[in-house]
Amino acid sequence: MSSSSETLPHVLMCGPYPTWDMQPLEAGYALHKLWEAQDREALLHACASKVRAIATRGELGANAELIGRLPALEIISCYGVGTDAIDLEAARSRGIRVTNTPDVLTGDVADIAVGLALSIMRRIPAADAYVRSSAWVTKNMDLVTRLYGKRVGVVGFGRIGMTTAKRLSGFDVELGYFDQAARSDSPHRFFSSLTELAEWCDLLVVTLAGGAATHGMVDAEVLRALGPQGWLVNVSRGSTVHEPALLEALEKRQIAGAGLDVFWNEPRIDPRFMALDNVVLQPHHASGTAETRRAMGQLVRDNLAAHFAGRSLLTPVA
Ligand code: 8YV
Repeated sequence: MSSSSETLPHVLMCGPYPTWDMQPLEAGYALHKLWEAQDREALLHACASKVRAIATRGELGANAELIGRLPALEIISCYGVGTDAIDLEAARSRGIRVTNTPDVLTGDVADIAVGLALSIMRRIPAADAYVRSSAWVTKNMDLVTRLYGKRVGVVGFGRIGMTTAKRLSGFDVELGYFDQAARSDSPHRFFSSLTELAEWCDLLVVTLAGGAATHGMVDAEVLRALGPQGWLVNVSRGSTVHEPALLEALEKRQIAGAGLDVFWNEPRIDPRFMALDNVVLQPHHASGTAETRRAMGQLVRDNLAAHFAGRSLLTPVA
């Protein structure tokens, strides 16, 4: 480390960001890269007393053990809207600030919710494979299911849920939603029971925030209510859906199919998913456009810069 970099705030990074973010971060901070360390313990031992900030990602978070090892920690800046993998209580109890990247990714996540619905119902990846395999030469592809005109139930009606509903309105679908309370600013039908929403709709789109409160909320009963003609899309967190129940429902065709961006054990997902022909799988990539990721990285840096300049945080969580 050069003498000038010794005056820079020390930041522990839990995982890499794109190059366009790494460059300004390298210039403005003394970075400690957890993912590059051969020996995680040695790296933490060497930097723990100096680290004033953690830069993490939604799926990597920062647990109580990590937070507890950093006595000089002031702020955790998360590249992602979901802070369920950050121990917010551990942060709050020490007055450690936490920021995330809301809004800038909403449109992309809503887009991929629609994309997954079309992909699974119209079987777009299967159709692509059908053409490539030349199966078309001998037989036309089997018929698929229409999205437009269907009933869609949105689970969790926050920023992403409402934007997904807005996108889907263009498909002339009938919309209903489940949340803690009805929203006075929405014309769509409110369901106070998730099971009743699942019974009512043809397609259930999960946009819930992750965390203990929503863990396993889409369970076997909800999937039974969705039924053999029902489709599921999950762009929230793997944790919101009871995955063993989902796998069983998919294998036994108790639901028609699922479009999934998120799983319980990412990136080493349950291999049973790979054997299914009624799923479309995405590698937790709903916000993964260059445009959105640039905006997310900028917001992470802007929050860090605001903190170290003593200004108000742009998007505080705690
Ligand atoms: C990202 C996310 O995939 O916003 C979130 O909560 O999970 C995602 O946008 C992730 O944080 C990028 O690493």
